[in-house]
Amino acid sequence: MFPTTALISLCLLAVAYGQQIGTQMAENHPALKTQTCNASGVCTTLNTSIVLDSNWRWTHQTSSTTNCYTGNTWNAALCPDPTTCAANCAVDGADYAGTYGITTSGNALTIRFVTGSNIGSRVYLMADTDHYQMFSLLNQEFTFTVDMSHLGCGLNGALYLTEMDADGGMSKFPSNKAGARYGTGYCDAQCPHDLKFINGQANVLNWTPSATDANSGAGMFGTCCNEMDIWEANPNAAAFTPHSCSVVGQTRCSGVDCGDGDERSEGVCDKDGCDFNSFRMGVKNFLGPGLTVDTNLPITVVTQFIASSGTLTEIRRLYVQNGKVIQNSNATLPGVTGNSVSDSFCNAQKAATGDPNTFESRGGLKTMGAALQKGMVLAMSLWDDHAAGMLWLDSNFPLNASATAPGVARGPCSATSGDPKTVESTQGNAFVVFSNIKTGPIGSTFAATSSGGSAGTTTSSSTASAPTEGGPLPQFSQCGGQGWTGSGTCVAGTTCVVQNPFFFQCL
Ligand SMILES: *[C@@H]1O[C@H](CO)[C@@H](O)[C@H](O)[C@H]1NC(C)=O
Ligand SMILES: *[C@@H]1O[C@H](CO)[C@@H](O)[C@H](O)[C@H]1NC(C)=O
Ligand SMILES: *[C@@H]1O[C@H](CO)[C@@H](O)[C@H](O)[C@H]1NC(C)=O
Ligand SMILES: *[C@@H]1O[C@H](CO)[C@@H](O)[C@H](O)[C@H]1NC(C)=O
Repeated sequence: MFPTTALISLCLLAVAYGQQIGTQMAENHPALKTQTCNASGVCTTLNTSIVLDSNWRWTHQTSSTTNCYTGNTWNAALCPDPTTCAANCAVDGADYAGTYGITTSGNALTIRFVTGSNIGSRVYLMADTDHYQMFSLLNQEFTFTVDMSHLGCGLNGALYLTEMDADGGMSKFPSNKAGARYGTGYCDAQCPHDLKFINGQANVLNWTPSATDANSGAGMFGTCCNEMDIWEANPNAAAFTPHSCSVVGQTRCSGVDCGDGDERSEGVCDKDGCDFNSFRMGVKNFLGPGLTVDTNLPITVVTQFIASSGTLTEIRRLYVQNGKVIQNSNATLPGVTGNSVSDSFCNAQKAATGDPNTFESRGGLKTMGAALQKGMVLAMSLWDDHAAGMLWLDSNFPLNASATAPGVARGPCSATSGDPKTVESTQGNAFVVFSNIKTGPIGSTFAATSSGGSAGTTTSSSTASAPTEGGPLPQFSQCGGQGWTGSGTCVAGTTCVVQNPFFFQCL
């Protein structure tokens, strides 16, 4: 299949290096346009693209199509130890639509849940072929539109930032030859152990196949870093959650540092995070099907990272739907106030719920802000939860606590709804659409476009100059779809295009 010379050079390389690139299928990153806006609300389109995380990829012997990893087990002959395995094995290109159910169109990304034997996926935004797009968001806002109307209980259509290296860790770990181009270098605040390769080495030591997940297992090492969850949601509940770590940048962990099991509060990262979930914070009729933020329809989600003298002090949330700006709900738990995340909100929330305050002890907002200033990578995923059935997001959790105790009820889903077996068999056709990703100074990326709501009623968007009421909608705006009551007139040079029955867009 290969020219002989290529085979020889691959074999020679394999002696010296690890975590190779497979050549069975070309890797072509699906294009996904995003925008950056300036303080006047004038937005520039970026030719960004997405890449599939390396963990989902075919992992095979560099010189053949023999699997290095099948289902949830390693090939013992090719992978006797971390270094030999990384030298013997390659991750290959991906058929995004066919194998994984991942498609893009213009500025919209669709992630399907079950495609053949594949369950869910995780992708990152790329600036160019070999680098992730870095987001530096102090005193900036991040805005996107989500259609999660085709998700149910137990699923999580997630959009979040993690402190990965822009090159996937290639320059730090020269044995990683695949880099960001193949989606390597993942880390998050759960210090996940399910990564097949960490720091350019295979995670084969003490690898234990999952008892419930045919595609996953856990190795000795985890991979930790600061994580800003902008959006973790299904139609029943949504949360935004900073998670801080006492380590800076992607950091491999082992032992107690990973914070596994009973050592949850002792690891380097804050696994619980300081979450704002409107339902959990006491307002159960705010976000959901037919509610104030109507999850039957696409929702534009605005997240603002307010800083003072270079230090992150507050994370604010606004929603825009049907052209109206909707302020986040206020917390109503005893002793908890406000509709945004600040250190004082987090302390009050932890006191009210009795949860350990590992957010504060790992550095709180200041640490999260330092990561946001340095630059973080955008991850988007759709997943089900083999550890806790997503009950921490959309049901009562923990199950042994009283459902009326502050912070236990997080959403209306039943205690059994998130069992992966059920979720995968009944919601195989589920999908989530993320679109219209924009960043810019506070107030630059959104505006009210219909009567009854106005950007001017928020505390934070006085500089928005983008569309005035009744004027034509700017490029990439929603302009129609089921339930849409705003204008259908797009700015000159664009037309209103049907993306799906729920979402028409000016393109
Ligand atoms: C935003 O960009 C537009 C178009 O380039 C320019 O006219 C305007 O002055 C810019 N605004 C700011 C605040 O830089
Ligand atoms: C994106 O690609 C288009 C079409 O190839 C090109 O006209 C535009 O200048 C590019 N934009 C940027 C920011 O590179
Ligand atoms: C939240 O509380 C603030 C301050 O008391 C108030 O101005 C605002 O209207 C409240 N928001 C909602 C959605 O009730
Ligand atoms: C619930 O179970 C956990 C783990 O076994 C235990 O640590 C916790 O104290 C229990 N909580 C209640 C309210 O019973």
